[in-house]
Amino acid sequence: MPLTRKAYRAAILHSIADPAEVGIEASYEYFEDGLLVVENGQISAIGHASELLATLPADIEITHYQDALITPGLIDTHIHLPQTGMVGAYGEQLLDWLNTYTFPCESQFADKAHADEVADIFIKELLRNGTTTALVFGSVHPQSVNSFFEAAQQLDLRMIAGKVMMDRNAPDYLTDTAESSYVESKALIERWHGKGRLHYAVTPRFAPTSTPEQLTLAGQLLGEYPDLYMQTHISENLKEVEWVKELFPERKGYLDVYDHYQLLGERSVFAHGVHLCDDECARLAETGSAIAFCPTSNFFLGSGLFNLPMAEKHKLNVGLGTDVGGGTSFSLLQTLNEAYKVMQLQGARLSPFKSLYLATLGGARALRLEDKIGTLHTGTDADFLVLDYNATPLLSYRLKQANNIAETLFVLMTLGDDRTVLQTYAAGTLVHQR
Ligand code: GUN
Ligand code: ZN
Repeated sequence: MPLTRKAYRAAILHSIADPAEVGIEASYEYFEDGLLVVENGQISAIGHASELLATLPADIEITHYQDALITPGLIDTHIHLPQTGMVGAYGEQLLDWLNTYTFPCESQFADKAHADEVADIFIKELLRNGTTTALVFGSVHPQSVNSFFEAAQQLDLRMIAGKVMMDRNAPDYLTDTAESSYVESKALIERWHGKGRLHYAVTPRFAPTSTPEQLTLAGQLLGEYPDLYMQTHISENLKEVEWVKELFPERKGYLDVYDHYQLLGERSVFAHGVHLCDDECARLAETGSAIAFCPTSNFFLGSGLFNLPMAEKHKLNVGLGTDVGGGTSFSLLQTLNEAYKVMQLQGARLSPFKSLYLATLGGARALRLEDKIGTLHTGTDADFLVLDYNATPLLSYRLKQANNIAETLFVLMTLGDDRTVLQTYAAGTLVHQR
């Protein structure tokens, strides 16, 4: 790679700690007239333009943005690639929604041309929305993951994905077997895990669609390779929770099923967790596991309200997830808009800085990647966004009434969406321009 150094001048904001741990003021850094210096795909300096400019060569290329905010790239800790074509499917809650809409839609990924086409649409949509890292469910077909990683690799994106493992309680056309899921996952791990900025996640869909044999092999895979991720769903919907109790009567509860098969750990991310109890939160925290909070999905599928204060009490790692296509938007800004309402309905608050944390550093911590992404600290990957204060006439007018960065940030998260993302950079390269 040729040696390159470029600088970007604008207001700059990043989360540097969890407001729940250090208080709001100590949780972020804000430079009203900031400079971000990028060298060979990484951030080499960040600070006030007035101080940093003097340290740089006179001929350095500087891009200067007016009415814009630079933030870290956003991190989506739960999304389904093969559900891109079914966002906004009417009328059902989780289990009927899966049977009526999801499984037929995912079956199309048996076809490589379809998998390639949707991978391209999906990645463009992530980048248009400012998402630079995502933890992604493929379909049961290995091809869905190959197509995704091939497209992500071309743009040098930091992405995590896995092929769904499901060997029961789903249509025959969409099931694997315990053995084939193990073999196919292993082949994908060998091909992709640790290649450039790509990582693999062992992906049992959820307890009801895996036999004990399949869950055993999922746990075995995790033991066979270092730093593998594990992603699945948990306690999203009350009928689902009851069903798991019927299928696994010998286990104490839903989380205990995954615990028994050794699927908890520092790189395990459980989507939803709306109906988790206190003990389960404690066990998740104890094992370093994380939750993906998916508010648009939880509203859309009528699943319930995630108890973020309970997770905070247990110091549980929480990231934000769109859960497309149960979720209704690829935009993590719009997802935060809904997250705020989830807290309001429970008599709690979500400060704009906690929101920023959830969508950036919180997600990075959930994925154990905080030394690489989620902040704009020196030495981390140059994955960042330029948000446009004048993206829409209303946003432009509304932000003129904002008195400080807290108000500006909150309005960006309430009115903002893909239109707000002017540019997205990954490893220092422009990968989306509005
Ligand atoms: N539980 C099992 N599969 C799924 C899925 O595809 N989406 C959601 N939201 N929940 C699930
Ligand atoms: Zn999901």
